[in-house]
Amino acid sequence: KKLVVFVSGGGSNFRAIHEGCVQGSIHGDIVALVTNKSGCGGAEYARGSKIPVILFPRTKDEPEGLSPADLVAALRELEVDFVLLAGYLKLIPIELIQAYPRSILNIHPSLLPAFGGKGYYGMKVHKAVIASGARYSGPTVHFVDEHYDTGRILAQRVVPVSATDNAEELAARVLHEEHQLYVEVANALCEERIIWREDGVPLIQSRE
Ligand code: GRF
Repeated sequence: KKLVVFVSGGGSNFRAIHEGCVQGSIHGDIVALVTNKSGCGGAEYARGSKIPVILFPRTKDEPEGLSPADLVAALRELEVDFVLLAGYLKLIPIELIQAYPRSILNIHPSLLPAFGGKGYYGMKVHKAVIASGARYSGPTVHFVDEHYDTGRILAQRVVPVSATDNAEELAARVLHEEHQLYVEVANALCEERIIWREDGVPLIQSRE
């Protein structure tokens, strides 16, 4: 299967997925990276790994960026099967969501539906978790709809929050699990092991 990854920042999840594809723990290939920041760490890594970089959306700072229709056309041209968002901070346009039904995933660094939605990104998520007194956090992989962090939950991992954690310490512990979880989920997608319960909840089938 052909994957495209969307990144705005350092891209450690993107790197984990790329390594998974190269090493064979994901039965798929990354055919492009999409970013709204051409200079971000993820884009640098893509260029270094000879992965095409697509700029999206078009902004004043990034005038080379594609329109939503051109982005969909570019992904069709590349025969993309699945879209993985990995720290991409812009809302996904409805054109893309309609073009790739049940095929776009995001990873979020909290146990959704807690600590999600607009405003909950980066360290803000972990600070809010610590301030709430929650004893557990962890990443969520979910399908993407037209809002932030509200699509159907596909997979989660539980990570303990320690009483002395600061946001950076918790973030590092969650990020470590993110990498493993996203690789597992990406491989389940590529192996067509996602099934949909009648009520619309997606489930991952384990390999028999
Ligand atoms: C991760 O914490 C992810 O959950 C969130 O953005 C962060 C991206 O980190 N959506 P990285 O760029 O993959 O290192």
